[in-house]
Parts: sequence; structure tokens; C-alpha cells
Amino acid sequence: MTKKQSFQQDFENHVIEGLSSFPKFLSSKYIYDEKGDALFQQIMNLPEYYLTNAEYNIIDRFKKELATLFTHELGFDLIELGAGDGKKTKVFLEELVEQQQKFTYIPIDISQNAIDKLAASLLEKWPTIDIQGEQGTYFQVLERLSQYNKRPKLIMVLGSNIGNLTHVEAIDFLGKLRNSMSPQDLLFMGFDQKKDPLRIQNAYADSQGVTQEFNRNLLHRINAEMDANFLVEDFEHWEAYDPETGTAKSYLLATKPCNVRVGKLGIDVSFKKWETIHTEISQKYDDDVVAWLAGKADLQIKRIFEDEQQLYKNYLFNRD
Ligand code: AVJ
Repeated sequence: MTKKQSFQQDFENHVIEGLSSFPKFLSSKYIYDEKGDALFQQIMNLPEYYLTNAEYNIIDRFKKELATLFTHELGFDLIELGAGDGKKTKVFLEELVEQQQKFTYIPIDISQNAIDKLAASLLEKWPTIDIQGEQGTYFQVLERLSQYNKRPKLIMVLGSNIGNLTHVEAIDFLGKLRNSMSPQDLLFMGFDQKKDPLRIQNAYADSQGVTQEFNRNLLHRINAEMDANFLVEDFEHWEAYDPETGTAKSYLLATKPCNVRVGKLGIDVSFKKWETIHTEISQKYDDDVVAWLAGKADLQIKRIFEDEQQLYKNYLFNRD
């Protein structure tokens, strides 16, 4: 099976499991096809979605310091998981180029299209930069990461992408990253912070309805790829942020009772009026929670960076 086929197989198995469970669920990781990528780009440009600008501010503010973390005669490998369009990373790369640092940039993303576009735009700007993009899921990539051990490496995971994981999954993910690291390696990761609950709520319940379309893309994909007949407009997006746990949860809500046939999977799914499909969690953190996660994964917090508006933090970790 090719990577693409096995991803499609996972998606189908997931749909069978998620739509026959009570309560129903569908994972946000299946939102990101070409249209899902474009909708996420639109989300990052929404006035309510503060995360992207906050992290941009951190990287811009601390790029000098970040760029001097590695001055090694062999140079270093800069590995970015979930690189996307690399807008935030470009600020950092610019600083590395200015400082004439010797490095290889290894952007990794689930989307080959995203990697090709990113590499092309970077090479246009800096023709001599060394880029070796790789396509893959986090899981596939983690297995390959420890091969980058010829020289120090800096692993970057930006965008608070870790927030889509439960704490148990996050510890597992951090532990795997940790096991791929040598004592000299560093991990730089973004964690969106707990704050005014309404601010968070609004970031995921935007007034233009882009986040609703983003979530609905799951249903569009099932319709197109699995021969289903969801009436997508009959499902509304709902966002619930719980300030106690720091978890923002996204749902699709059936506004009418309905029956949906998923032809390719041979299943029929019925929805009561107001029945939910849970689609995503976006976890918010504070220093204590990040320290707890790090401790569980045998990582040490070396330094914490914060944006000027105090909305978001990036943590620099090394191995214990
Ligand atoms: C890409 C997972 C960081 O949870 O904030 C944005 C995805 N979902 N709006 C997030 C998302 C709804 C985003 N991450």
C-alpha cells in the first residue's frame, strides 16, 4: 500500500468508528485536504485568530537569541514538523542567513504540495539555502528523526499544533521527540495559553463562519470520497471552551433529524435533532501544565518566550 492508500484506509476506518460511536466523533486531522488547507490559511488571517500573530511576534522578538543557540562547526539541522507555508519560520531563517549560520532546513508536512511551494519560495529568496523537505505524518516522521544525528538538531513544532492532542497523547508525542534527541539537541514548541475565556471562544467561533466551513469540510470529504449524502448545511459548528480544563472543543451539531448513507462503507447513520459530532480539541496551557507534560516526557524546560500581548508562549526544551 502506498502512503496515500493507507491514509485513506485509516480515514475510512475512522469514519466507521466515529459515526457508530455514542457520542459521535470525527478527528480534525482529516479536515486537511486542499480545501481544508486553504480554509486553515483563511483562519490564520482572521482578526479573532490571535495565535499566528502572537507566535510571529515571539519569533521576531527573539530571533537573534534563537539563532545563536547553535553555533557549531558542523552546522546544524533545523527540522520543522507541520511546516505549512512557513511564514513564521521565514523570519527565523532570515536571521540565520544574516548570521551566516551553517544549517540545513528540513520542513516536514503531511502535504507534499505545501513542502514544494515552501521550498520554491525559499529558494527564490535565498538561492543558496540548503532545504530538504520531507512528506509524512508526525508518526512516520518521528521514526525517521533519530537518523538526523550527525550534528546538532533543533526541532520546531509551531502553531500550538500540540493542542489537538489530549494530555496522554501529548506526553506520548513529547516522549517520542525526546527519544529522538541527543543531549545537545533542542526542541522549540508553541503552546497557546489560558486567557480570557471569551477571547479563546471567539478565536474558534469566528463571526465570518470560516471555522464552521473548516469543520464542515470533514462532511464534504466523506460525501466526495466515501459516497455519502450528508446535507452539510444542516450541520452547524459549535465551540465550547472550558476554562477549568483549558480545553476548547469543536462540534458539528445536527439541526434536523436525518439519516445519512455512506455508500462506500455500507453504513447508515442516523442523527437526532441536536445530536453532536465532536471534531477537535484545541488545548490551552499554562506554565505548570507544560512543566508537568515535560516532566512526564523526561524533557527539561530551558527557556520560555512570550509575545508582547502575553497570549502565547514558546518553550525551549532539552533532554534531562
Ligand atoms: C492548527 C491545531 C493549531 O487548534 O488552533 C483553528 C486548528 N481549528 N481553528 C487550532 C484550528 C480551528 C488549530 N491548530
